[in-house]
Amino acid sequence: MLEAKPTPSEIRITKGVSVVRDIVRITPDSPQWGELVAHLERTGDFRHVREGQDIKRQLLFVGALVEGRVVGHISLQKQVISVPSQPPIAMRLGGQVLWESYVQTFSVEETYRRQGLGTALQQAAMELSRQLGCYQMRSWSSLDKEANYALKLRLGFSFCPGTFTVPGTGEQVPGGWFVKRL
Ligand SMILES: CC(C)(COP(=O)(O)OP(=O)(O)OC[C@H]1O[C@@H](n2cnc3c(N)ncnc32)[C@H](O)[C@@H]1OP(=O)(O)O)[C@@H](O)C(=O)NCCC(=O)NCCS
Repeated sequence: MLEAKPTPSEIRITKGVSVVRDIVRITPDSPQWGELVAHLERTGDFRHVREGQDIKRQLLFVGALVEGRVVGHISLQKQVISVPSQPPIAMRLGGQVLWESYVQTFSVEETYRRQGLGTALQQAAMELSRQLGCYQMRSWSSLDKEANYALKLRLGFSFCPGTFTVPGTGEQVPGGWFVKRL
């Protein structure tokens, strides 16, 4: 599903109409890259993934396509597991550095919600993270993201409550971390 080679699309029949849905890895070289950027602007996620005018190079993207249009995405980065707000001292297990994939953004455009695309994106991101040698997948969510909470708990994520300090302003946002062992 995530390799560069073409894979069969899923065809879902909704109200008698067949709809082609794909979950694909999207890189700056992919034909869907421009479409992905437009989707990130529509959902308001672009500001979370940008570095100047460009997208952060360390981020990996998986997109949900319906009839070739990007309508959902998840972005993540591979990083060593370390204690927040401390110098990055890597956690080790049996002498090996532990890596995690950290999800930066995750959304499905409103018209396409409750059709399983968010779940499919999370599952594809977990598979990609496993391929990258990550021990766990982690994300942070504010308390108001009810759909995200419901989806994550259904997928078997653990939840660790905690506040997030907004860089720059120091604002404390209540929420928590979702973590899943891969
Ligand atoms: C979170 C989000 C990506 C889910 O996408 P989605 O494609 O609708 O998710 P799915 O269709 O795979 O939903 C899977 C399950 O999650 C739960 N769920 C999803 N949305 C829900 C909602 N609004 N209320 C309650 N449960 C919900 C349900 O159990 C659902 O299964 P069901 O439809 O069979 O009942 C989408 O709601 C979204 O983009 N929200 C705004 C952005 C956001 O909150 N991002 C994440 C945190 S930054």
